[in-house]
Amino acid sequence: MNLVDKINKLKSELDVTIVAHYYQKNVVFDIADITGDSLELAKKSSEVGTQFVLFCGVGFMGQSVKILAPHKTVVMPKIACCAMARMIDVDYFDNNLKILNEAGIANDDILPITYINSSAEVKAEVGRMGGLVCTSSNAFKIIQTGLESGKKIFFVPDRCLGQNFAINMNLKSAVIGIDNINDVKSADIICYNGFCSVHQLFTTDDIEFYRQKYPDIIVAVHPECDPKVVKLADFSGSTSQLIKFIKELDPEQKVVVGTEYNMVHRLREKHTYTLSATKPQCPTMNETTLSDVYDSLVSIKENKITNEILIEEKTIKYAKIALEKMFDV
Ligand code: 13P
Ligand code: SF4
Repeated sequence: MNLVDKINKLKSELDVTIVAHYYQKNVVFDIADITGDSLELAKKSSEVGTQFVLFCGVGFMGQSVKILAPHKTVVMPKIACCAMARMIDVDYFDNNLKILNEAGIANDDILPITYINSSAEVKAEVGRMGGLVCTSSNAFKIIQTGLESGKKIFFVPDRCLGQNFAINMNLKSAVIGIDNINDVKSADIICYNGFCSVHQLFTTDDIEFYRQKYPDIIVAVHPECDPKVVKLADFSGSTSQLIKFIKELDPEQKVVVGTEYNMVHRLREKHTYTLSATKPQCPTMNETTLSDVYDSLVSIKENKITNEILIEEKTIKYAKIALEKMFDV
């Protein structure tokens, strides 16, 4: 029996749902029961009927399921941590608040919004302050709702997403640690200085290269890219928005995409290019292998679970407030 057959056999014997993000390797993606972007997966996996959720993705994604459905047993074949999520912890979050306080902005005048790519602890800190979570699919709506509070938005951890949505909404943004403190004080959206190393690979030179080579090509990018790249692109959208946009293109239309390689490559073979000379594969997403999935299923079967997602009760309580606020909006 090959590994895929062994996995399917174990899956049929166990009370488990296998979930995979679009950025997973094809072999892993193909054996999943549910696939999607981070927003779809957080929602769908917390509502499945099985006791076990085997989550193939990065750590914050498995944590989001555990926060929304604490009674479920969430297991990750690899607890790989998203490089961007790793750029912020509660101490860094608090240090940034301190910088804002010293600049004369009181905590009561700040509404934190965290991109879903952050740890449960950061989400809990945001929840404690009355803030909320967003994903790249709903950031526009969440920021718009946040602004109705009349407070300044403190957006963590992805500076690019904060900057891109500020441009989109005609608002002023500034990044703590990059922009001068007077700009930070007058900004509507104050961004934490984090970024995605994969989406930083795409440059305006890459766009110019493709436009020179194929003058009619369409450029589509994720809003985790640098604002200069997003500005030059024809389209910018979250993972599922990019999928929809690309699927609806004329089959003969050339498109170059600035996001993760596995997803782009799986999406459309003909006339589709990735916007980088370096293969833009997310290293942490790619850590999960079929053997890891198999080993995880065996660990469930033998009741010796490895890599279970466990989060302190009080962290779940506040992180859930921030996540549920996002779903309410
Ligand atoms: P989505 O929210 O679009 O699934 O993206 C998550 C992510 O990590 C993008 O790099
Ligand atoms: Fe994190 Fe970037 Fe990988 Fe997305 S692509 S999971 S933001 S490191």
